[in-house]
Amino acid sequence: MSVKHKFRVGIITASDKGSRGERDDLSGAAIKKIAEDSGYLVTSYRILPDEQKELEKEMSRLADEDICDLILTTGGTGFSKRDVTPEATLSVSERPVPGIPEAIRAYSMTITKRAMLSRGTAGIRGQALIVNLPGSPRAVKESLEYIMSELEHGLCILKGLTGECAGKDVVHG
Ligand code: MTE
Repeated sequence: MSVKHKFRVGIITASDKGSRGERDDLSGAAIKKIAEDSGYLVTSYRILPDEQKELEKEMSRLADEDICDLILTTGGTGFSKRDVTPEATLSVSERPVPGIPEAIRAYSMTITKRAMLSRGTAGIRGQALIVNLPGSPRAVKESLEYIMSELEHGLCILKGLTGECAGKDVVHG
């Protein structure tokens, strides 16, 4: 699968250990690979601690400074006290996008019932779409590969590029 328009992607890994260099960020790397293999351009990639304000600041920077069209986060969607990525996302989003996390969980539930434990969300800030993915590389791969093909259509509409993006075959199922 390759997109027609080269959309820009920002990756944010929310991980206390990753931000201290105590853990390799395999999940951010998995996002980078899937995004690039799909024809997206990665314009930012940061590992941050699970601090709501820091996550909010980075998401706002990527959207407001027009660095990215799509912001993909990994980690911090579970039940631990430090898991605050959904709160940060909702706080900076101007419009919620419930369908994407619904789709991620619906598909992921066919793989593991623990998918119900991810509180991941999605929203639009300005002209950028923010999507939370769970923290493990496996969960990233399962979630992102499932939604990737439909993200392009949403981004085309969000960016007002429907003419440029039109003509792609619609595949049902
Ligand atoms: N979704 C998929 N597709 N695959 C997985 O292995 N793991 C679940 C869930 N979503 C998982 C998944 C688990 S075990 C948890 S605790 C939550 O994501 C939250 O993960 P996070 O806190 O690392 O974001």
